[in-house]
Amino acid sequence: MNREIKKICCIGAGFVGGPTMAVIADNCPELQVNVVDINKERIANWNNKDLSKLPIYEPGLKEIISRCRDTNLFFSSDIIKNLKSADMVFISVNTPTKTKGIGAGQASDLKWVEASARQISKYSRTGTIVVEKSTLPVKTAQTINTILKYSKESDSKNAKEKKFTVLSNPEFLSEGNAISDLVNPDRVLIGGEDEISINALMNIYLKWVKKEKIFTTDLWSSELSKLIANALLAQRVSSINSFSALCEKTGANIKDVSLAIGLDKRIGKYFLNAGPGFGGSCFKKDILNLIYICNHYGLKEVSSYWQKVLDINSWQQNRILSEIVNKMFGTIADKKLAIFGFAFKANTNDTRESPSMHICKKLLEEGAKLAIYDPKVSPEQIKKDLFDKKSINKDDNLQICVSTKDAVLDADAIVILTEWDEFKNLQWKKISLLMRSPSWLFDTRSICNIEEAQNHGINVWSTGFGKY
Ligand code: NAD
Ligand code: UGA
Repeated sequence: MNREIKKICCIGAGFVGGPTMAVIADNCPELQVNVVDINKERIANWNNKDLSKLPIYEPGLKEIISRCRDTNLFFSSDIIKNLKSADMVFISVNTPTKTKGIGAGQASDLKWVEASARQISKYSRTGTIVVEKSTLPVKTAQTINTILKYSKESDSKNAKEKKFTVLSNPEFLSEGNAISDLVNPDRVLIGGEDEISINALMNIYLKWVKKEKIFTTDLWSSELSKLIANALLAQRVSSINSFSALCEKTGANIKDVSLAIGLDKRIGKYFLNAGPGFGGSCFKKDILNLIYICNHYGLKEVSSYWQKVLDINSWQQNRILSEIVNKMFGTIADKKLAIFGFAFKANTNDTRESPSMHICKKLLEEGAKLAIYDPKVSPEQIKKDLFDKKSINKDDNLQICVSTKDAVLDADAIVILTEWDEFKNLQWKKISLLMRSPSWLFDTRSICNIEEAQNHGINVWSTGFGKY
């Protein structure tokens, strides 16, 4: 049996809700897609006529927004109205690590998910299909179901219970590639028990995704698959970073090692780039959440295994900091460091858990003067990330630059922390003339032409390079 869906409401207009709903609207012109958020400023930015002011930067996003916005894609702060009319509601809210209380520092904070479930319970119609899009601890669907079970058609004592079904449909997009990941996903995962609801969601994806790519499971396997996928991806980054240190000690070259091992089909070539450690809003919080769940079930060996993936990540960032300080005669106090890149990876303006942010904070603590350039992160965001509110605009050691040229003037070192394309072909001859000698390049992403930089008198350190 088929269930017709005419209106979708997505709670959460963030990095997942915004692009995901844009791609659904673009591929399903017959659907009305309403994205709602409690953050009014974010909604205003999604509705900004000037598409360069959209709250998130993703290649290909503004083209879709210009096609669909105010046609069948709407961004609104009116949560109640949009919940009342929706046939299907996606929960796409943030699920960060808890900062206080039981499980602080590990467990996911589900207060935004619970608030969403309560609003659905109160305002949505009976029969609404509720879809978990956020990344959630295994068994969260049970909690949502329990909250929804107490919903009634009206406040009267004899009112009928409303009926909902809950599906898990985790999102696997990666930032910077969100649109291509959504348009051409490796797979779409749907977990659930109710066939009619599963088919209703599947029919939406079938508008642009081949059936063979849509995989259905029970709820718990779906919720857990998302956490495990992120853990395995992060583990690959920590593995290659651990070997980058070994390459540096032994005179090997991590790029060649990655290529050589990646040619083996069983290993594969992706996620083998050594660098300043993984960042982003999810890898760390999802592994912490897995560790918490494993401890809860008494699986101490499993939790300590995954803790090591996080430990290596912090260690990699600390050892890069030590390399910089040691190479620059043991002190960077009052030295000018040009920082290329602040986003956690290329092609996004997201700075959550950015390795650049963590390393910059430590460089500032060492007394360095930083001149930061990132093509997409705003100066306000950089200041917000580096300082608490009180010290904003008070720090003389921070300059935010509009170009690489602006940043390198009189710099003692360049530190490349995000792999933006424009850092791959820098004009080392010109740059060397602008820097103070002896000058250094610390290429933590291993993207530069080391030889060329060296030929122009710049000293080089690059992650995983043992031979200079
Ligand atoms: P985000 O912080 O960018 O967006 C979440 C939005 O939800 C915020 O704008 C917030 O204001 C809104 N919100 C919270 N509670 C609300 C409520 N009760 N009503 C209305 N709006 C509410 O987060 P994100 O990066 O989009 O991530 C969302 C979820 O998706 C997380 O669980 C994350 O783990 C998962 N995820 C993220 C990515 C990614 O690349 N960022 C990829 C896959 C999965
Ligand atoms: C990651 C996953 O790739 C997505 O599948 C998932 O949906 C998402 O998390 C999520 O749940 O939020 P994302 O964090 O956006 O996506 O970006 P990635 O490309 O995975 O990069 C994560 C971090 O690892 C970045 O800091 C990146 O620079 C780093 N990385 C990645 C490396 O250092 N080396 C690599 O080879 C790959």
